[in-house]
Amino acid sequence: MAAGFRPDSVVICVALLRCFHVLSAFNSPNLARQVAVSSNAVVNTVNYNTYYFKQKIDHFGFAEDATFKQRYLVADQHWHKDGGPILFYTGNEGDITWFCNNTGFMWDVAEELGAMLVFAEHRYYGESLPFGDKSYSDAKHLNFLSSEQALADFAVLIEGLKRTVPGAQHSPVIAIGGSYGGMLAAWLRMKYPHVVVGALASSAPIWQFTDLVPCGDFYKIVTQDFSMSGMGCSESISKSWKAIDNISSTDDGLQWLSSAFKLCSPLRKKEDAVAFKAWLQETWVNLAMVDYPYEANFLQPLPAWPIKVVCQFLKNPYRPEKDLLNGIFLAVNVYYNHTGNAPCLNISQTATGNLGYIGWYYQACTEMVMPMCTDGSSDMFELQSWDFKAFSDECYSLFGVRPRADWATTVYGGKNISSHSNIVFSNGGLDPWSGGGVTRNISKSVVAIMIPEGAHHLDLRYNNAYDPKSVLQARALEVKYMTEWIKEASENPKCPHNQVC
Ligand SMILES: *[C@@H]1O[C@H](CO)[C@@H](O)[C@H](O)[C@H]1NC(C)=O
Ligand SMILES: *[C@@H]1O[C@H](CO)[C@@H](O)[C@H](O)[C@H]1NC(C)=O
Ligand SMILES: *[C@@H]1O[C@H](CO)[C@@H](O)[C@H](O)[C@H]1NC(C)=O
Ligand SMILES: *[C@@H]1O[C@H](CO)[C@@H](O)[C@H](O)[C@H]1NC(C)=O
Ligand SMILES: *[C@@H]1O[C@H](CO)[C@@H](O)[C@H](O)[C@H]1NC(C)=O
Ligand SMILES: *[C@@H]1O[C@H](CO)[C@@H](O)[C@H](O)[C@H]1NC(C)=O
Repeated sequence: MAAGFRPDSVVICVALLRCFHVLSAFNSPNLARQVAVSSNAVVNTVNYNTYYFKQKIDHFGFAEDATFKQRYLVADQHWHKDGGPILFYTGNEGDITWFCNNTGFMWDVAEELGAMLVFAEHRYYGESLPFGDKSYSDAKHLNFLSSEQALADFAVLIEGLKRTVPGAQHSPVIAIGGSYGGMLAAWLRMKYPHVVVGALASSAPIWQFTDLVPCGDFYKIVTQDFSMSGMGCSESISKSWKAIDNISSTDDGLQWLSSAFKLCSPLRKKEDAVAFKAWLQETWVNLAMVDYPYEANFLQPLPAWPIKVVCQFLKNPYRPEKDLLNGIFLAVNVYYNHTGNAPCLNISQTATGNLGYIGWYYQACTEMVMPMCTDGSSDMFELQSWDFKAFSDECYSLFGVRPRADWATTVYGGKNISSHSNIVFSNGGLDPWSGGGVTRNISKSVVAIMIPEGAHHLDLRYNNAYDPKSVLQARALEVKYMTEWIKEASENPKCPHNQVC
């Protein structure tokens, strides 16, 4: 489906990766294809029906009157049919069945809450393509890919369900999402408070936008994860960049690197080392996101506490350069070859580049501008400042559009969200995205829950015997808030939001 893209887009992507590579990590959910397997090797099977809902391609203008089919999944085995709540997953940048399989929390609480589960796919991802195969062909077709349109899809779908599903008319709906999906859950409550009674926004970096948080926080958290997982670990990574520069300065060195790292395609010129370093950097970021306490398969199949395993190979930062880099190879191999099935390492794939990937780039190149930077001293990376102009130029060459750095703050309020209600923001202390998350209580009903031992939306995963206490407490608190919102709504079903009716 990526066929419509210019053949040079991969190269530009690599360049874009260089200045904005973390996005692919954020996006990677749609790349994995397997069902989550818990540590005791029990496969959690999910059981749902698939439906399609007719949506307007453009909710906000009248010239384009065409429609497309939005996919959504429904599981109502535990639903209390007359007015029981609906937990509504606000789909993010990927195939909705993948999010459905990986949001075990909703399946775990459905019975207790007597809830129907709905997973709605985000337009332009999975099967919900407004213009079919042409959806990604150019800026004109991509024009309707935005968070505002996605939120409108969700609101219209919920109203449609309430109208047509017998018994759902007065069902209170709670939005739930993780990562960008968590941002959408929070924003759905902010923009459509008459449609959803509350929102659980897990690992949702709604403050990762321009001037809201320091651009370096993200990579500082990545660095901390490695520092605290083993002596010498972040220092080894910190020293590896110069070692790569030195070694890649000669042809022999490039050859040595290619064979030491078992690369699928050898590094041929000095500039290839730039892409190689970007790939390593992204690998460290991905590991920080999925540093889960048990064996899991989120972005990749990984052992429990993967960063601890990685750090076993990175104990001595003062080794000779080649020894150090051999350690780096063994370390990245934990990420790419835990199963032993990788014949070689492909630096064009950290997370694999499929269509969802490009969709998220487009969103980052329009509304979702998330500045990132490193300083090379308080983090383990090379100095890289945030350069909006360069980023904008990359976007222009890739999509023919330029990003609007301030728009997300204008449309969603930035830090000024105290007038809203019934939103829980949960954050993992290990998750680099917590740097852009809401980590303090804003008001009585806009609250933050911290999970110090949690990586990227750990709380939304299935219960697991190895879950740290902090995530169990977080989930209990989340259920408590949801129960309160449901109760509030049922006390006044026709006017469920404490509004004057
Ligand atoms: C989700 O799980 C179902 C089985 O429960 C499986 O058929 C499907 O391929 C999974 N989807 C993804 C994207 O992992
Ligand atoms: C750079 O590499 C060369 C040859 O690979 C090595 O002899 C030299 O010690 C390295 N420089 C530093 C500063 O480590
Ligand atoms: C992955 O692991 C297998 C089994 O240990 C090994 O044969 C293979 O060479 C490894 N691949 C890489 C890229 O290291
Ligand atoms: C490496 O990944 C790229 C991008 O997914 C792909 O096009 C290429 O075929 C891969 N190379 C090998 C040798 O697997
Ligand atoms: C939030 O908005 C209010 C007015 O709606 C304004 O008085 C206040 O200064 C704003 N606070 C911040 C932190 O921007
Ligand atoms: C926010 O308030 C709730 C309820 O009092 C509390 O459980 C939680 O720990 C607070 N969050 C933070 C980050 O202080």
